[in-house]
Amino acid sequence: MFLFFAGAKIKQRANVFKPILNLKKMCNFAPCCENVIMQEKLNGILQEIITAQPTNKEQLENFRLKYLSRKGLLTDLFEEFKTIPNEQKREVGKKLNEVKTAAENKFNELKEKLENSTAQTTVDFDLTAPGEHSELGSRHPLSIVRNEIISIFSRIGYTVQDGQEIEDDWHNFSALNFPEEHPARDMQDTFFIDVSNKKNSIALRTHTSSVQVRLMESGKPPFRSIMPGRVFRNEAISARAHCIFHQVEGLYIDENVSFADLKQTLLYFAQEMFGEKTQIRLRPSYFPFTEPSAEMDVSCFICEGKGCNICKHSGWVEILGCGMVDPNVLENCGIDSKKYTGFAFGMGIERITMLKYRINDLRLFFENDVRFLNQFKSAM
Ligand code: PHE
Repeated sequence: MFLFFAGAKIKQRANVFKPILNLKKMCNFAPCCENVIMQEKLNGILQEIITAQPTNKEQLENFRLKYLSRKGLLTDLFEEFKTIPNEQKREVGKKLNEVKTAAENKFNELKEKLENSTAQTTVDFDLTAPGEHSELGSRHPLSIVRNEIISIFSRIGYTVQDGQEIEDDWHNFSALNFPEEHPARDMQDTFFIDVSNKKNSIALRTHTSSVQVRLMESGKPPFRSIMPGRVFRNEAISARAHCIFHQVEGLYIDENVSFADLKQTLLYFAQEMFGEKTQIRLRPSYFPFTEPSAEMDVSCFICEGKGCNICKHSGWVEILGCGMVDPNVLENCGIDSKKYTGFAFGMGIERITMLKYRINDLRLFFENDVRFLNQFKSAM
């Protein structure tokens, strides 16, 4: 239809503009041809607009972009319209306006329709329906107790030092006065990762004393810090032992630090942790890195020293190891042992937590059973 019609008009003009051979060229010379092409185009677009059925907001937006936006088809058509010869403008202009109105109407109509349908669903939604219940978690008991220990020591000026769990032989053993092949190492057997370097193998740390070594190596005294962290030992898992557990160790190095300072610091800690009536006692012990060394007991906070299951009827429960830092260790870490002295202590967080909450099986800490964990609620 189009070709025939266009061809007929061109034929008419052909007498005026001769010779005219190709169609495109012909159109360039034939004003009526532009009119026809544009009319056809507009009819096609009008059809498209009428049949378009955007069913959601995204499709409607695409419709708007395609036809009505500044870079849309209608803008192009109005540009094209400028090239139409004046005598044809009325006819084409009319069509063009028809297309524009159709696009605008369609858009407004569909917009309203879609908005109504969304409004409908909003109304359908029951705002009073109960929300989905989500369980509130709780801190792990070991975290609660660790935070409490940190808080107690930070009140007397101790900072917190963090360190690596994979350690070399020097920081975990040798610097701390555990000679190679010495039986003292048997107390802390661990998991070795790399033994290719005989003098400095790599293993999982057995205590956070390694963090004390790194701290002392890193600067000059005074040092007053605690070292909380996870440690590892090659132990069979039972109700009383595990191959993973947690410690808080402490270190105080300065001029004139004495055993009396150690005793007073630990008494303060015990009374803050277990109650102000708590008493402590120190029993001589042995650690390679402290001299003298001691184990500290606290008076049983359950029976108040009268004797019960927890303290095995002795009135006392053991909670930590401590002592004055051996001068060899200070020298190993580059500290002048004639000028400086200090003390160190170390406790297992599991042990204190078990005593505090009367938990009788260490394995419960690692099983992640929510029935166990739910029983500990704390803001700390
Ligand atoms: N590092 C010791 C242990 O893990 C604890 C300790 C630290 C003892 C400091 C004395 C002084 O067994």
